[in-house]
Amino acid sequence: MIDRRNFLRTLSALGISLPVMGRGSMKPNPAARKNNPVILCSRGADWGGKVLKPGWDILAKKGSLLDAVEKSANVTELDPKDTSVGYGGLPNERGVVQLDASIMYGPTHNCGSVAALEGIKTPCSVARLVMERTDHIHIVGKGAQEFAIAHGFKVENLLTEESRKLWLQWKENLSDDDDWFPPKDGNYQMERTSGTINVLALDTNGDMAGITTTSGLSWKIPGRIGDSPIIGAGLYVDNEVGAVGATGRGEELLRSCGSFYGVEQMRVGKSPQEACEAVCQRIIDINGGKDKVDFDDKMVALNKDGEVGCASILGSKGNEPEVAYWSKNGFKVLKGTYLIKS
Ligand code: GLY
Repeated sequence: MIDRRNFLRTLSALGISLPVMGRGSMKPNPAARKNNPVILCSRGADWGGKVLKPGWDILAKKGSLLDAVEKSANVTELDPKDTSVGYGGLPNERGVVQLDASIMYGPTHNCGSVAALEGIKTPCSVARLVMERTDHIHIVGKGAQEFAIAHGFKVENLLTEESRKLWLQWKENLSDDDDWFPPKDGNYQMERTSGTINVLALDTNGDMAGITTTSGLSWKIPGRIGDSPIIGAGLYVDNEVGAVGATGRGEELLRSCGSFYGVEQMRVGKSPQEACEAVCQRIIDINGGKDKVDFDDKMVALNKDGEVGCASILGSKGNEPEVAYWSKNGFKVLKGTYLIKS
């Protein structure tokens, strides 16, 4: 019997490399598709343009699908102006930024994720290494940071001045009965956020991959993990069907397995748009109907034909959910649908 490590060594000695190391076996591609390549992200025009540019440049040159989704997701992770992802993300209740991210590769069903990772600006790149360079799928907390350090990542302070001030405002306005006082002229109005970004792509071979990355729910209990690093909740990719990513209230996406449910809806014939709406409806149903829902989740989807969909639970005219995508027809933003008028 040849074990996995020896099998990989034997391949290496023979000069054979696998596209992505890990458990899954490569599945043959279904027939070539008409619209590929396509790359999308769960944002509108402003972020979408800058996030998707590096990924599109890679895909347009028939480069690596995984490089494309990673380089695009890294744009938001490294940009301190985004307070819901990576560097500059809003911290937990102790003022510490803890990041979650996942990656999934459609041809093999391989995936990797990190959660409650501190001090590393690009958690999706660490998640990719978990997928490609370990026999595990999830690594969390201190272990995830040690793994990142072993791969040469630098530990840095991820709390920007803007995020620190927002955290301090929240802390000082938490209670009138504690010892933290807001400034007399303070005007605190900020809502808790659980912003996140999904990047999904289809390459010229018809292969698919995706990433979800986030700083999670602001002011969360230390160690809280949302949907983003959980395969099937914040992200799911199946090469034979399509890919789905989620943003918004993670706890609801966890108890509905939202992204997996979305992919399975496409498997039985729904369009990406219908699949996104079906996930939102499922979450509403689980909660007992529209009048019981006071949170938002948003789904984005891409199928094997390069079709795109987007829906959220809450929305209003002029404030519809958006998905930005780049294909051979150029950069576009699609306004999705919402199920409850907010
Ligand atoms: N969807 C991001 C989170 O809840 O952590």
